[in-house]
Amino acid sequence: MTFEYAPAPESRAIVDIKPKYGHFIDGEFLPGKKHFATINPATEEVLSQISLGGLSDVDKAVAAAQKAYTKTWSKLSGKERGKYLYRIARILQERAREFAVLETLDNGKPIRETRDIDIPLVAAHFFYHAGWADKLDYAGLGKSPQPHGVAGQIIPWNFPLLMLAWKVAPALATGNTVVLKPAETTSLTALLFAEVCQQAELPDGVVNIVTGDGSTGAAIVNHPGIHKIAFTGSTEVGKKIARAIAGTNKKATLELGGKGANIVFDDAPLDETVEGIVNGIFFNQGHVCCAGSRLILQEGIADELIEKLKVRMAKIRVGDPLDKNTDLGAINSREQLSKIQELASAGDAEGAERWSPACDLSAKGFWFAPTIFTGVTQAHRIAREEIFGPVLSILSFRTPQEAIEKANNTPFGLSAGVWSEKGSRILWATQQLRAGVVWANTFNKFDPASPFGGYKESGWGREGGKHGLASYLKEGK
Ligand code: NAI
Ligand code: MG
Repeated sequence: MTFEYAPAPESRAIVDIKPKYGHFIDGEFLPGKKHFATINPATEEVLSQISLGGLSDVDKAVAAAQKAYTKTWSKLSGKERGKYLYRIARILQERAREFAVLETLDNGKPIRETRDIDIPLVAAHFFYHAGWADKLDYAGLGKSPQPHGVAGQIIPWNFPLLMLAWKVAPALATGNTVVLKPAETTSLTALLFAEVCQQAELPDGVVNIVTGDGSTGAAIVNHPGIHKIAFTGSTEVGKKIARAIAGTNKKATLELGGKGANIVFDDAPLDETVEGIVNGIFFNQGHVCCAGSRLILQEGIADELIEKLKVRMAKIRVGDPLDKNTDLGAINSREQLSKIQELASAGDAEGAERWSPACDLSAKGFWFAPTIFTGVTQAHRIAREEIFGPVLSILSFRTPQEAIEKANNTPFGLSAGVWSEKGSRILWATQQLRAGVVWANTFNKFDPASPFGGYKESGWGREGGKHGLASYLKEGK
């Protein structure tokens, strides 16, 4: 007997969205000149008008950050900086539901995830880095390591507030000031974070938020007053940034794309593995740079596992992101939906076999059913290119060596997963996988203490943990 779920929508009454937003510069909101709409991708409802930052806005923000760096922030002790970070972390916890609802409205991801994953991790990042602020001299980074100055930070739309936390928390803990640009489709939680900075009485200009598009991002990258760049987004833009800063003194960390391999050996516990596969690719609609988007199955168990996976996928609830029962929400934008559709069609055309469970998708908004492709080979585009959607490409292998070769046969190297009952096999495999993060018998687990980053086209440097601090510091005198 199966039970139907009654709708359980979270109320949106807790959020107060203004009709129009400016930029947050030097502790206050300044009106922008041009605006663009931000929408709820589940309904296409226009939520607000966001300012399109130009050169003069970026100029003002960098000047404010420079002034705050010289006059205030670099003069504070680590202990004092830490107090502000603790205060921000606590306010974020107090206002967690507001942030969760707002993130779900603007991004399309399920409230279950914003409430239980994104926002708790955001607070955890601020708490973790607050603890480091007064201990940098003992972090193994040399005697009294020094901040760079003003950090330019450009973030994507898949984890809007979490990516802000990954960037802002270590920058402030290490004594840098910040000019941050959120992604064009998801600026609202960053603008609410600006209010949190005011509420925490963070000194003016320590955090500046300029909204806008790629041209605004490029203006930050190219600004001579920026000393360090932290970027998360596409490999294509990552390469542009690398070219733009070549020959300058600007430091950079780049967190780019991925095509993570999730390898299942024939001794893996299959039911648990199915849960891990679902979490690996359908978490956040697959808009995850470290998603387990290539499933690599040992031949002996492949058919049985795929059958179990289909049974499980038929239970994934796709729909209203504000409903507490929803597992898979809306695709973030029309552009991203087109990209997913185009790559999935390439999978069909190249001869892979597509399967999705029956799904009732709303005509309004941007939706894509959870999908698997079987019969995928290394030559297929869906095995090589990042789809960034709820689409899993399934390949198979006979020998463990073949699994590793397939897993590493990619221009990326961000994440991988290994499923096996044998510890020795897991250790053997993790040592050979060229990926920055390898999960064993789990997937998509994050912790602020754990460094994150990739090899090859997945980027430069690490964020999180002690490794992440290092990129915001230079050797002391
Ligand atoms: P994108 O790389 O264009 O956007 C990321 C951020 O960079 C946004 O804030 C954007 O405004 C900014 N930006 C764009 N051009 C810039 C430039 N020339 N200089 C400085 N900043 C610039 O990513 P997009 O177009 O939203 O997504 C395209 C694909 O990228 C996705 O389909 C996915 O495959 C990948 N992606 C990967 C992410 C990751 O977490 N590694 C996150 C977002 C997208
Ligand atoms: Mg939006």
